[in-house]
Amino acid sequence: MILETDRLIVRPLNETDLNDMFALDSNPKVHQYLGNKPITHKQEALNYIKSTIKQYNTTGVGRWAVIEKETKSFIGWCGLRLYNDMTFNNKTNFYDIGYRLLPKYWGKGYATESAKACLNYAFSTLNLNTIYGITEKENAASHAVLLKIGLNYIEDFYHDAEQMTLRWYALNKTEYQNIS
Ligand SMILES: CC(C)(COP(=O)(O)OP(=O)(O)OC[C@H]1O[C@@H](n2cnc3c(N)ncnc32)[C@H](O)[C@@H]1OP(=O)(O)O)[C@@H](O)C(=O)NCCC(=O)NCCS
Repeated sequence: MILETDRLIVRPLNETDLNDMFALDSNPKVHQYLGNKPITHKQEALNYIKSTIKQYNTTGVGRWAVIEKETKSFIGWCGLRLYNDMTFNNKTNFYDIGYRLLPKYWGKGYATESAKACLNYAFSTLNLNTIYGITEKENAASHAVLLKIGLNYIEDFYHDAEQMTLRWYALNKTEYQNIS
């Protein structure tokens, strides 16, 4: 699975992304709205890559690496995740869209550009019915991205496991076809 946009390539994560993934997930700024728990060991980044590769194989989707075409640099990840093992807002077994970029690349429209490509892949190639989004309530940049790619803000909910208020978004295939 490889997606291409004007400025970006979206491709599967692999173990050669280890240093980049460690840089991403050990950065406190990146984790400000993700529970403030940046990782401290490379092994944690390796575990994340391995579990993502497992998701590709078992669910057909997962978070994918985002590469800036001009520089060939790894800028972060974006993609779909089938939450079949966790419950959010009383829902289990749903596809979520998410993204996480290195701060150096924020503010260039890259999250929006890569997420749009993933959303199109979800509806047009995978033929999925509904894509959901979740953000921390204060994560204004992520809120903006989800709205820009067309998801509808539904409601806030309290997530017991993480003890925080999160926001819930959704878009179905028919709505997507009407806006694209
Ligand atoms: C969320 C994230 C991916 C956004 O990446 P990005 O490439 O900067 O996003 P884009 O440039 O495509 O769009 C960001 C939008 O948010 C807006 N924005 C950014 N910071 C904002 C803030 N503090 N308040 C309000 N809007 C804000 C930008 O103006 C932009 O909207 P615009 O195009 O209408 O001006 C990036 O900040 C990130 O990786 N954060 C850490 C991980 C994370 O929180 N992931 C989301 C978890 S749900």
